[in-house]
Amino acid sequence: MSRRPLIAGNWKMHLTLDEAVQLAKAVATASAGCSDRDIMIAPAFTALAAVVAAVKETHILVAAQNVSWENQGAYTGEISPVMLKDLGINSVIIGHSERRHIFGENDAMINRRLRAALDADILPILCIGETLEEREAGATLTVLESQLRGGLEQVRKEQAARVVLAYEPVWAIGTGKTASKEQAQEVHAFLRQFLEGLYEKNIAETVRILYGGSVKPDNIDELMAQPDIDGVLVGGAALKAESFKRIICFR
Ligand code: PGA
Repeated sequence: MSRRPLIAGNWKMHLTLDEAVQLAKAVATASAGCSDRDIMIAPAFTALAAVVAAVKETHILVAAQNVSWENQGAYTGEISPVMLKDLGINSVIIGHSERRHIFGENDAMINRRLRAALDADILPILCIGETLEEREAGATLTVLESQLRGGLEQVRKEQAARVVLAYEPVWAIGTGKTASKEQAQEVHAFLRQFLEGLYEKNIAETVRILYGGSVKPDNIDELMAQPDIDGVLVGGAALKAESFKRIICFR
C-alpha cells in the first residue's frame, strides 16, 4: 500500500503578512519539481487569505493552525470551519502540543474540532505526543492510545480514512532533540496497529502518519526512509525557504 508523502510546515505565530507571502512563493518555487508528494504550509490566521492568493496557481496546500467546532456564534477569538472554507482553506492542524500544553485544550475539545473539520470536508491533521516525563515513566504508548481514542471518538470509519495523524513527542518540539528514526518508527507502527484495532486494516493502511519534532535537513532522509513514516510536520526549519526546500526534496 503506498501512501502519498505529506510535508507540512507549521509557521506557528511567526511572520508578518509580507514575510508570509514571500516565504509561500519561495516554497512554491522550491517545490515545483516535486509533484509526487503533498506540500502544505500553515500560516497564522492573519496571513491565510494572502498566502492562499500567493500560491493559487501551484499545488501547495494551505492549512490553518486551529478551527472552532461551531460554524458561528458567540465564541470570541475562534475561527470557524465555514470561515476557513470561505478563504479556500481545506486543511487544518488540530491538537498541536502547544494548544494542549500552553492553552489547555483537552481531548474532548480536540475531538469536537476534528469532527467539525471532517463535517466541513476540511482535512484534519490530528497531533498527539507524550511529554518527556511521560516517556521516562514508560507511559508513552498509553498516553498516545488515550489521545488517539479521545481525539477520534465518534469518528466513523469512512471519515477516519481522511484523517492525517502527526506524532510529535513534546520533548522533541523546538528543542533540537529529534526522536531517533527507530524511536519514531516504533511509535508509528504502534499507532497503525492501534488504528487497525479501532477501525480495520484498510483504514490503518490508508491513514498517513507524520512525524514532528526538530525535523531538519540533516535528519529528513532517514526519517522518511522508515516504512510507517509518511511525512513530517516541521516548525522551525519550515520558516526558511532553503531548509524547507531540502526537507520537501527528501530522498
Ligand atoms: P519544530 O516544531 O520542528 O520546531 O520542532 C514542530 C511542530 O511543532 O510542529
